[in-house]
Amino acid sequence: MLASGVCHSDLHVRDGEWERPGPLVLGHEGAAVVERLGAGVAGLRVGQAVALTWYVACLRCPACQAGRQWLCSGSSSVRHRLPDGRTPLRREDGTEVLPYLGIGTFAEAAVVPAEAAIALPDGIAPEAAALIGCCVATGVGAVTKTAAVEPGASVIVFGLGGVGLSCVMGAVLADAGRVVAVDRVAAKLDRARDLGATAAVLASDRASTDAAILEAAGGGPDYVFEAIGLPATIEQAVALLPPGGTAVLVGLTPFGARASFEVFPFVDGSRRILGSNYGFAVAAVDFPRYAQLHLAGRLPIDRLVDRRIHLDDLEDAFAAMRRGEYVRQVVVF
Ligand SMILES: NC(=O)c1ccc[n+]([C@@H]2O[C@H](COP(=O)([O-])OP(=O)(O)OC[C@H]3O[C@@H](n4cnc5c(N)ncnc54)[C@H](O)[C@@H]3O)[C@@H](O)[C@H]2O)c1
Ligand SMILES: [Zn+2]
Ligand SMILES: [Zn+2]
Repeated sequence: MLASGVCHSDLHVRDGEWERPGPLVLGHEGAAVVERLGAGVAGLRVGQAVALTWYVACLRCPACQAGRQWLCSGSSSVRHRLPDGRTPLRREDGTEVLPYLGIGTFAEAAVVPAEAAIALPDGIAPEAAALIGCCVATGVGAVTKTAAVEPGASVIVFGLGGVGLSCVMGAVLADAGRVVAVDRVAAKLDRARDLGATAAVLASDRASTDAAILEAAGGGPDYVFEAIGLPATIEQAVALLPPGGTAVLVGLTPFGARASFEVFPFVDGSRRILGSNYGFAVAAVDFPRYAQLHLAGRLPIDRLVDRRIHLDDLEDAFAAMRRGEYVRQVVVF
């Protein structure tokens, strides 16, 4: 492993907000270099730089057959095991330890399915490669693939962590007309402007936040991306939509959380809500593409990384994330 980003999804698991089997080695946003190949593995070589995908598609289920690998129903990744059901990890007493999503990147080395290791073009830095593996694929894909935002559209993004700022980068890439970034932490707003947001709004009480957003967006936005995962901001995102507007839900809540909206105006105004998992990523196609866009200067992924840590600092990194500090903390090895 060369680098591993700390994603809020790791924190959801760490804090018990999502029921998962265990014990687990967390981490699912990793870049690595191939050290050894299993028997019969083709398409990779020792020394190859790779980004790891946390969702290996089976390529056999109806969703995969239809080209929608992000909806794969036969993925071994969600069992937190290798495709043959084994785990490569053991405690000293012999008990099994599972790699989160089959890759468990908070580790100096990992045994992963060959399909999870996506070869990247030469010259890509490990930190950028790592982030392509989750927040970039999730945020850029939510804008360009799930929503397919049109040039000139107005876009609002709630939450400016690695995922939300990747939505901002995606909106800039898609030539959105106005890109309004919203967070409750002021330092995040500068980072969003730096990445091309046309306006940034500090979230305070709902009424003044909504007023500031609508002014900056020039009226009801065409698209609102929620990249936090809170019922309150999900409801706020839906309520901001004008007729024909689309809310794209990217942030993940604790299990069991619910949000509500008034149905009549929603239907009467032909509004839409889209859920977006992993930015509809087809890793083998999209990861090298995002890497090329980065190398061409069109996805400044490196500007998301604002703290480098060691494995021993993970609890401190999670504490900072709970406070909304840092855009993306990255474990470097
Ligand atoms: N859909 C997917 O496939 C997918 C993939 C990766 C992550 N996620 C989810 O996306 C969410 C964001 O992940 P991240 O790693 O960027 O998280 P993060 O914690 O780094 O960023 C969240 C941001 O939201 C801000 N925020 C929190 N409460 C707020 C509020 N009330 N108003 C305005 N801003 C607020 C924080 O200050 C922070 O900047 C998480 O729920 C994560 O689990 C989803
Ligand atoms: Zn993630
Ligand atoms: Zn499948």
